[in-house]
Amino acid sequence: MQIISTTQELRGRLKSEPSVAFVPTMGNLHQGHLALVRQAREHGRCVVVSIFVNPLQFGPNEDFAKYPRTFEQDCEKLAGLADVVFAPTVADLYPEPQQVYVEPPPVANELCGAFRPGHFRGVATVVLKLFNIVQPRAAVFGKKDYQQLHVIRAMARQLNLPLEIVAGETLRAGDGLALSSRNGYLGAEERAEAVRLYRNLARIRESIVAGNLDFPALERGAIDDLEAHGWCVEYVLVRAADSLASAQAGELNLVVLAAAWLGKTRLIDNLEICLNADKDL
Ligand code: PAF
Repeated sequence: MQIISTTQELRGRLKSEPSVAFVPTMGNLHQGHLALVRQAREHGRCVVVSIFVNPLQFGPNEDFAKYPRTFEQDCEKLAGLADVVFAPTVADLYPEPQQVYVEPPPVANELCGAFRPGHFRGVATVVLKLFNIVQPRAAVFGKKDYQQLHVIRAMARQLNLPLEIVAGETLRAGDGLALSSRNGYLGAEERAEAVRLYRNLARIRESIVAGNLDFPALERGAIDDLEAHGWCVEYVLVRAADSLASAQAGELNLVVLAAAWLGKTRLIDNLEICLNADKDL
């Protein structure tokens, strides 16, 4: 596995690679990331993983400075799974102030975007830059960041990017908590409590599958339960899975998404609800 830290060197290394599969990350890798890297192997002969904590996608009061940077451990985890680790510096990726941005679709201002203004613009911009540098034939993104996946898919479609966007399933701890780099911020008591987010989403999914389509009441029930246990909830919403638009009764492919703070840690999660396939859950 090669570790490359400049755009120029990476371009040289990949010049003669006909089939690159790419996994962009911000590092602090866990099994969820490694599953995406294994999945990437099915989509390209050369697997490239980027590790870059992108300042453009963090708001002024967010955790950019304290975001865990664990480069050496990340490389150890990737050995044998990736062919190239691309870890550029901020100066390499942004040699001049970034004034050209990708404007994501309006849905990027809802859900997480409503609480993190500019976040998806920063994500889409860095991802397009990375695509232009790596020029992959496929790129893998986790469904854990469901809205991000939606925005990247829209960007790839609407800007005619010549690559396939592949979705990876969310990996969960034994109790159901979605694996996330930010879980590391949780203290022991918080970690035990954190699973409540998943349990509420699972309860909403069960209710919908059982025929309860009163989405506002289901969302309210989850918010009340979380708030009663000390959470500060940003949103719990049932949406159409394909468009992330408000869910209408009769929609078969739904997703319930949530973001909430437990102490100083912001957690997000989602569950897809396919009414046909889930009928016998
Ligand atoms: O999901 C992430 O880790 C980041 O948002 C991404 C896609 C690597 C862009 O910085």
